[in-house]
Amino acid sequence: MDTAPPLVEMTGITKRYGGVLACDAVDLTVRGGEVHALLGENGAGKSTLMKVLSGDVSDHTGQITVEGHPIQFAKPADAQHAGIAMIHQELDLVPGLSVAENLHLGREPRTRLGIVDRRAMSERTRELLRRTGIDLDPNRPVGELRVGEQQLVTIARALSLDAKVLIMDEPTSALSTAEVERLFGVIGELRRNGTGIVYISHRMDEIGQVADRATVLRNGRKVAEFDAQEMTAEEAAEAMVGRTVQTRFQSRTVDLGEELLRVRGFAVRPKRTRVGRREPDGIDLTVRGGEIVGLCGLLGAGRTELLESLYGAGPSGTWEGEVTLDGQPVRPAGPRRALRSGIAFVPEDRRSSGLVLGHSVTANTVLSTLDRLGVAGMVRRRSELGATQRSVEQLKVKLGRISDPVGTLSGGNQQKVVFGRMLLTEPRLLLLDDPTRGVDIGAKAEIYQLLSEIAGRGIGVLLASSELPELVGVCHRVVVLRAGRSVAEFDTAHAGEADLLAAAMGERTGGDRNGNPPGPAVGTGQSTGGGAN
Ligand SMILES: Nc1ncnc2c1ncn2[C@@H]1O[C@H](COP(=O)(O)OP(=O)(O)OP(=O)(O)O)[C@@H](O)[C@H]1O
Ligand SMILES: [Mg+2]
Repeated sequence: MDTAPPLVEMTGITKRYGGVLACDAVDLTVRGGEVHALLGENGAGKSTLMKVLSGDVSDHTGQITVEGHPIQFAKPADAQHAGIAMIHQELDLVPGLSVAENLHLGREPRTRLGIVDRRAMSERTRELLRRTGIDLDPNRPVGELRVGEQQLVTIARALSLDAKVLIMDEPTSALSTAEVERLFGVIGELRRNGTGIVYISHRMDEIGQVADRATVLRNGRKVAEFDAQEMTAEEAAEAMVGRTVQTRFQSRTVDLGEELLRVRGFAVRPKRTRVGRREPDGIDLTVRGGEIVGLCGLLGAGRTELLESLYGAGPSGTWEGEVTLDGQPVRPAGPRRALRSGIAFVPEDRRSSGLVLGHSVTANTVLSTLDRLGVAGMVRRRSELGATQRSVEQLKVKLGRISDPVGTLSGGNQQKVVFGRMLLTEPRLLLLDDPTRGVDIGAKAEIYQLLSEIAGRGIGVLLASSELPELVGVCHRVVVLRAGRSVAEFDTAHAGEADLLAAAMGERTGGDRNGNPPGPAVGTGQSTGGGAN
C-alpha cells in the first residue's frame, strides 16, 4: 500500500551529553525496502541518533513511531522487540566466548530438555557465516579474530535477528573490497524483502553503490537530504563539512632517500612441506626514506601480521625472514624497543591495542612518549598538556577538553588521538594499519596531507589500507599481499584500483607494470626506478 506509514519516523530528536548537543531536533524516516545513508563528519551525531533508535540511548526528547505507532524504548531489548537491530560501530562482542556463542548470546537454541543445543547452534552459525561470506570455525574465541573478521561476525549476528529495520553503523570500516561486495549482496537481498536499512559510512564510494537516500548531519543537525543515486561525492562532502573540500588526493612526488626498511622472505607461520622444507616465498618489500608504500590485500592476506611483527606487537618471535632498518638487522622485541629504534605503529583496533578509554585525551596522547617528556612534576605536566594541545590542533580533533576521557570522543576522533600519539614519538618509519578507518572525509584529507608532509621530512611510511582509493591516491608504490605472500607491486603513477583488486583477488591479469607475470615473487625495488638495492 502506498499510504502505509514509513517503517520508522523520528521527529525532533534531541540528545545532550553534558554541554554537547549531539543531536539537535533531527527528523529521519526509514521506509521498508530502502537503504537510507546517514552521513556526517566525525562527531556529527550519527551514532547517537541511531543509538536513540536502537534503545541504547533513552534520555532524549522527540518522538519515534514504528509503522505509525508511537513508541518509547527504555533499553535495546525494547527496540529489538519492535524489530529494530543495530550493528554497532565499535565492536561489541565478548572476546572470551566463541563465534557461535556470540551469535546466540541470550537466545541459545535449547533441546526439549532445556539444555543448550550446541549442535543446532553450530549449524546455524555456519549458515549465518556462509551468508556473510566468511569461513570461520564457530568454536574459535572471538578474541582471536582480526577486526575485519569480528566485524563480519557482528554483521552475521544482526542478520540472525531478522529485523524489520537494520542499522549498520560503519559496517565496512575494516573490510576490504571483496568483503564489502559480499555485504552489498546481502543488503540487496534484505532490501528486496522489504527491510529498511540505515547505512552509516565514511567511504563515499559505497554510498552511491548501496543507498537510495542520504541524510546529512552537521553538528547534530540535519542539514541536507539527497537522492543518493543523484548526489555527487562533492555535494555530499560540502553538506557534511559546510564548505568545499578536496575529495581527491594526490601525494606529492618527493625525492626518495636511501633504502630504510628491507623485508625479505617474511612469513609468520612458515609453511613446511612434509619433508620439513620451508616454502621459499613470503613477503618481500622495501621502503625508502620519504616513501609511502601501500599494503593491499583481502582480509587475512597478512597485512596486519606483517605490521604487528615489525613493531614487535602481537605474537612476535614466531616469524621468519630478514628485516633490516638502515641496513641493520632488526627484530623488535616489543613496542618499547621498536619505538626506541624509530619504528612507530598505529594499530587497526584502536580499542584493544590503542587507547585506554577511561583515561584523558592527554594521558592517551603522551602514552608512548613518557620516556622522552622526562622530568617529573609541574614541568612535565605542562609539556604533556602542550604536546597534547598541539597534537589535537594539528589533527583537528573534535573534543570538549583535553582532560575528557578519550572514550567520550566519537569514533573517528579517537582514531586521530592514536595517530597523534605516534607522531609525537618522531619515528623514522611509520607503520599504519588502516589509519583512516572510521575517519570522515575532511579529516581523511587532513591525514593524507599530514602523511605527505611526514614523508617529505624523509620518514618512511608503510600503510596498510582496505580502501583502494586511499592506496592509489596516497602511496607512491603499493605491494599486494595474498595469503601471506607479496604477489605484485605497482607504481601508483601507472596503476589504478582495478589493477590492485585483480592482484589481491588472484585474478589473472597482464601482470604488474613491470611486465612481470602475475603470481608469486615479484621483485621489489624495481619500480622505484632502481637504486634501492
Ligand atoms: N557517551 C558519550 N559521552 C559524552 N559525549 C558523547 C558520548 N557519545 C557521544 N558523545 C559526543 O556526542 C557527539 C556526537 O557523537 P557521535 O558518536 O554520535 O558522532 P558520529 O557522527 O557517530 O561520529 P563518528 O563518525 O566519529 O563515529 C560528539 O561530540 C561526541 O563527542
Ligand atoms: Mg559514529
